[in-house]
Amino acid sequence: MTVTIVGSQLGDEGKGGIVDLWGDAADVVARYQGGDNAGHTVVEDGTEYKLSLVPSGAVRGKVGVLGNGCVVNPATLFDEIDALRERGLDPDVRVARRAHVILPYHRVLDGIEEEVKSDSDSEVGTTGRGIGPTYEDKAGRRGLRVGDLLDSEVLREKLEYVVSQKRALVEDVYGVAVTDLDDPDAFDVEALFEEYREYGRRLADNDMTVNAGDFLADRLDDGQEVMFEGAQGTIIDIDHGNYPYVTSSNPTAGGAATGTGLSPGVVGNGEVVGIVKAYLTRVGSGPMPTELGGVVGDTPGYDEQGGGDNEELATYIREEGGEYGTVTGRPRRVGWLDVPMLRHAARANGFTGLAVNHIDVLAGLDEVKVGHSYDLDGEEVFAMPATTERWADCEPNFRSFDGWDDVDWSAVAEAGYDAIPENARAYLDYVSDELDTDIYAVGVGPGREESVVVENPFR
Ligand code: GDP
Ligand code: IMO
Ligand code: MG
Repeated sequence: MTVTIVGSQLGDEGKGGIVDLWGDAADVVARYQGGDNAGHTVVEDGTEYKLSLVPSGAVRGKVGVLGNGCVVNPATLFDEIDALRERGLDPDVRVARRAHVILPYHRVLDGIEEEVKSDSDSEVGTTGRGIGPTYEDKAGRRGLRVGDLLDSEVLREKLEYVVSQKRALVEDVYGVAVTDLDDPDAFDVEALFEEYREYGRRLADNDMTVNAGDFLADRLDDGQEVMFEGAQGTIIDIDHGNYPYVTSSNPTAGGAATGTGLSPGVVGNGEVVGIVKAYLTRVGSGPMPTELGGVVGDTPGYDEQGGGDNEELATYIREEGGEYGTVTGRPRRVGWLDVPMLRHAARANGFTGLAVNHIDVLAGLDEVKVGHSYDLDGEEVFAMPATTERWADCEPNFRSFDGWDDVDWSAVAEAGYDAIPENARAYLDYVSDELDTDIYAVGVGPGREESVVVENPFR
């Protein structure tokens, strides 16, 4: 069977930790979208691993697959594999031949486009990994795929076609001289050809490329268990998120089918677990109706740290939760749980279960709030509007919960659900009721052992 792990909010919900928690029962862990914009954390016996391309199952020695829906930067993939090897892991990663390749010019273009947008305060706040420009080329039918790296003739032909266009884009549209760039080789066919042919050789020598759909279907036919590791989250999904402040792929559950080559039926017959952070964080720009305080540079219209109670609270939660970007190190914006967002996510993904993380971070607060619904033009609405402009007009209607004490969370994790402080259980019951979905796990700390498991979706 399959278990699909999906972020229900704006990313960084603790997906990596949940993949690791249940990964013991999985034989294969497959990513189906995104690239090295992801930063997934696994903590095993106090040792922390931050993974960006290598699927999180690697910590448990599981086979990893990067599906056709992913965008793969071979340089960062090999660096990550080598770094994990040095730390004693032995990642076995297979890469879809249909997956698209991030090239150096994609990163350069990501940077230039953000810079240009920043003149009108409309930058997305991307991770700068070249994700958007690579998916643009995929949709524009001019992308290079992993399979192309294995055939030097095809590689050269495709580079010759596309690199001259990218050079013209940078020079003629953006007015930037390639020779002035930090990495002028990013637009040099010969240099790119040599470097990427070499990646192709390493992929081939290590037998790393697969037809992902066939590979996964064979495993399932053999009775193996497959876990899909979503990256990012529903509200930064290019279709279901708050466009244009989104990533360029489909983190939602449908992406697990299109991004691996298995059918929607296979994914839908399995479990789809929504990962929920007990509050809300956001890296980058865009609206956030339940935001507390703000972060200069990311929160729209927030020009200087303003102080005040809400900002103090945001800072407290940010520090308690270590809410700094895994990839970029940026402080994450912090807010209360946004329940209309979760209703939207539950519908778009069809969650069969939930994992609610970080309830330990909120411990010690007198009061915990949730945005239960929105006020939009004097009307109460319960789901997110479809346009980002309308979402920005939403004022949350808050509900208040009594806070819960900080306790020995490891002991709670061992003792089970009933050992969770009563007020935290009331909060969890509310979330479960609103989404009409059972809670399978509750995160009470970053470690593998710091989760209360109610149900293992593989059983
Ligand atoms: P991902 O991108 O969804 O995999 O999440 P990240 O790894 O970017 O961010 C989640 C952070 O919270 C990591 O530092 C995790 O180790 C940590 N974490 C995950 N679950 C919990 C939890 O229940 N409690 C606490 N305190 N930290 C958690
Ligand atoms: P994980 O998998 C949180 C955000 C960026 C930016 C927007 C677009 O760790 O949850 P991109 O570089 O993808 O073009 O940036 O999406 N973003 C994430 N935010 N967690 C992530 O991944 C993210 N990946 C991208 O901050 O706002
Ligand atoms: Mg992350």
